[in-house]
Amino acid sequence: MLSEITSFALCGLEGVPVEVETDINKGVVSYDLVGLPDTAVKESKERVRSAIKNSALYFPVNKITINLAPADIKKEGSHYDLPLAVSILKASDQLTADTDGIVFLGELALDGALRAVTGILPILISAKAKGFTRFIVPKGNANEASYIEGTEVYALESLREAVDFLSGEKLFKPVEHRNFKVTQSLRSYNYDMSLVRGQKVAKRAMEIAVAGGHNILLAGPPGTGKTMLARCIPTIMPDMTFEEALEVTKIHSISGELSEEGIVSLRPFRTPHHTATTVSLCGGGNVKIHAGEISKAHKGVLFLDELPEYTRRTLESLRQPLEDRVITIARAGGAVTFPAEFMLCASMNPCPCGNYGSSYLTCTCTPAQIHKYRNKISGPLLDRIDLQVEVDGINYEDLTGESKEETSTQVKERVERARAIQRERFKEDNVTVNANMGEKQIKKYCKLSRECEEVLRNAFETFHLSARARARIIKVARTIADLSWSEEITPEHILEAASYRSYDTSSL
Ligand SMILES: Nc1ncnc2c1ncn2[C@@H]1O[C@H](COP(=O)(O)OP(=O)(O)O)[C@@H](O)[C@H]1O
Ligand SMILES: [Mg+2]
Ligand SMILES: [Zn+2]
Repeated sequence: MLSEITSFALCGLEGVPVEVETDINKGVVSYDLVGLPDTAVKESKERVRSAIKNSALYFPVNKITINLAPADIKKEGSHYDLPLAVSILKASDQLTADTDGIVFLGELALDGALRAVTGILPILISAKAKGFTRFIVPKGNANEASYIEGTEVYALESLREAVDFLSGEKLFKPVEHRNFKVTQSLRSYNYDMSLVRGQKVAKRAMEIAVAGGHNILLAGPPGTGKTMLARCIPTIMPDMTFEEALEVTKIHSISGELSEEGIVSLRPFRTPHHTATTVSLCGGGNVKIHAGEISKAHKGVLFLDELPEYTRRTLESLRQPLEDRVITIARAGGAVTFPAEFMLCASMNPCPCGNYGSSYLTCTCTPAQIHKYRNKISGPLLDRIDLQVEVDGINYEDLTGESKEETSTQVKERVERARAIQRERFKEDNVTVNANMGEKQIKKYCKLSRECEEVLRNAFETFHLSARARARIIKVARTIADLSWSEEITPEHILEAASYRSYDTSSL
């Protein structure tokens, strides 16, 4: 007897339907799984056998052949347990219910319990787009599934429950649809701009960076609040829309990093260690393809603390995704593309001892040492960082004084206004923020008066800036103008923008 059950495979974030076909025949007793299953899927054979036996069901002693079709797609992961089990039960006539159009996903424990799996959200989204609306998933994936409207998802505890549900022995209610609430996000950032005392210049630069989608480098002595400042970035970014939250959740879902809530509602903040490999940073892997830190930082912040500690190779690997906003990982059987639209924030000491440029402490490094240290960061990477800010120490009065610091909510309001201006401006362009303007948009939206040109020429000649640096100054000036609701870019905007290029303009 032959049976067919529908499940899904994941290629990157894209779900593809997989038919689990089981054929049970009289013949030499055997149990085979074909159709490009990886080791994890092969292991599921034994789990399925035990789960069936331990669910007061019967595991057929015949010749069992299971095919996962289409054969040219690699089947990875443990979520095929449930479809395999149901397929065997149907092929052995223990289950006669109609299973057409139902998508089965879930791992089985040996006792028949259903265990939560990774990647439920991207599968549900793809499946829904392909016309599937009914799903059976593990109870542990219920929250994640609840955000997809227009689906009927049954989140069950065990294989036994699945059989009882399908045969109509027991009734189950589908998972209740939940609406994404932005207010969820306001509660749980652990940082706030108001906790950082002083550091006016750095805070201003951060506001500009977030408003225009620019990358930022904070340079300064240890203990001046660079890490603290970086952690505040997500708190001043606009709230994620539901679509953005889903995009981010998909990546965290396949990575098995979803919280109980089932959706990522806070902008990610990722801090890969400087010993992180290129694979863990950018994604890849031999057996199963993993999303890298840069994709887990999608729509949020990638923070590289102590930038010169990272190897040149690691830093170089960031150039392409910084440019393209996606990362494509080649592998046998087709390339996989993950989104990687992150804001880069890097921090570093200004010199090996950390005190160069400090108004409080003395630097003990030689110019040659400082030069060597800064040279560790490649020019092309630095070129993709629009704002470079020097963070100085703060004095005791500032640290303990009564002065009231602005809250993240206040800064965020200004950021959102500047973003709204940009959305309106770029309606017809394939651009969302000032930082992503190309030559064409710079020409169109950043007309410079004669005075502005003069100021820019001065900076260009005095500091020997590159053509790239010039374009970056103009883009940042555009953002500064947007923050002050100014249609025109003024010489003051250009001057302020040029002041955030301290690493190009440094005399070292
Ligand atoms: N500007 C500041 N306002 C308030 N606390 C600060 C400030 N700068 C540093 N600190 C305190 O010092 C600690 C270390 O700061 P951190 O951000 O790790 O410095 P850095 O990354 O520059 O070495 C913080 O956890 C905080 O308690
Ligand atoms: Mg730090
Ligand atoms: Zn030094």
